[in-house]
Amino acid sequence: MFNPYKFIETKKLGLTHSPNSINDFIKYFLADEVENSQMSAWLMAVFFNGLNNLELNEYVNSIISSGKQLNFSKLNGFIVDKHSTGGVGDKVSLIAGPILAACNCYVPMIVGRSLAHTGGTLDKLETIKGYLGNIDINQFKKNVIENKISIVGQSKEICPADKYIYSIRDITSTIDSLPLICASIISKKKAEGIQGLVLDIKVGNGAFMKTTAHAKKLGKALTALGNSLEINSQYIISDMNQPLGKSAGLWCEIEESINFLQNKNIDKYLYKVVHEICSRALKMSGQKECDKLISKAIESGKAYEIFEKMVKTHKGDLKSSYKENIPKYKYTYNSKKSGYLSGIDTEKLGYLLLEIGGGRKTTNDKIDPSCGLHINKKINDKIDIGEPIIEIFGNSKTKIDSVEKIFDNIIFISNKKNKEKRLIIYE
Ligand code: URA
Repeated sequence: MFNPYKFIETKKLGLTHSPNSINDFIKYFLADEVENSQMSAWLMAVFFNGLNNLELNEYVNSIISSGKQLNFSKLNGFIVDKHSTGGVGDKVSLIAGPILAACNCYVPMIVGRSLAHTGGTLDKLETIKGYLGNIDINQFKKNVIENKISIVGQSKEICPADKYIYSIRDITSTIDSLPLICASIISKKKAEGIQGLVLDIKVGNGAFMKTTAHAKKLGKALTALGNSLEINSQYIISDMNQPLGKSAGLWCEIEESINFLQNKNIDKYLYKVVHEICSRALKMSGQKECDKLISKAIESGKAYEIFEKMVKTHKGDLKSSYKENIPKYKYTYNSKKSGYLSGIDTEKLGYLLLEIGGGRKTTNDKIDPSCGLHINKKINDKIDIGEPIIEIFGNSKTKIDSVEKIFDNIIFISNKKNKEKRLIIYE
């Protein structure tokens, strides 16, 4: 007989779970025979005492088998995905996905919502009028087969155990546990039926990982788990000490992604991250001359065509979204002195976007799709007094009127340039 009390006690004492007991725990939890309070207690015990490799494998397999798994083995092409640990202005999935699909890969992509100060790909996509991010698994599979890419949110069909456990972790301070993060991310990737995965571990003042050492530890743990499940997994570490690209927020990031895919006004930092991720994925797929393939996918218009088709298949209407997402109010932050842009408190900037309507404080909050910012300067750029640095916008006048003073604690100007930081830190 399975005894949840004894099971929790094992981990509380720092001991190892017996084979199959994690599987039983998840099974009984899903059958409502393990209470949420017992799951919370176990998660906290894991937070402090961890899971060894065997335990982690059993846990991740239990999560995967709690739902359905996709199988694309009959397709003639490499099945690949990328995943970012989250940042401000990180729209790489929206760009790299269609590029990979244009380069003979299949991309079944399950994405998340905004979390804390970071933006979520699903929230961005849902600013496209009508876009259905929650479709059933058969439709998802059909879209991937027909369009080479589909981007959706996690449904109850895929890793339902993760969905319930995540909501408990979210309110019990057990999100930031290495084995729990790894199992949560990699289980969904395995359920997608992918063969290859490139992880983008963000590091810096706008990321969850504040140091390169922590980012490396997470990258290594995620790739080890991915590889153990026969997903060819690699990671990069990329800088998140400033927003990525020229915009951050919701609809404005869709606009920037469209421009990028149409080869217009491409931010060079954003290009570098997209390029690194795509070239790794393409190399994994066995293709050569990846630089050329990536350029061709953009310059020929094929990547944009694929993006447009994906949006249409998901019932999204890009044309009317341009009109409906025009923000009513704007505020421009001009530099109060001349010098060099020496720092941006990127996390604060992300929280500012959340405050003005770009994110949720409770799960039921409605977000303002027009909300976002354009940033004209990068770290170490020269700035003259009075020059506009950031334009922030949204549909709430009171919220936009309130931002002015906050910027003095977000944007920093100094007389000297900083030491250059590498954008891709670990290659
Ligand atoms: N994203 C996930 O899907 N799970 C985590 O645990 C953390 C980030």
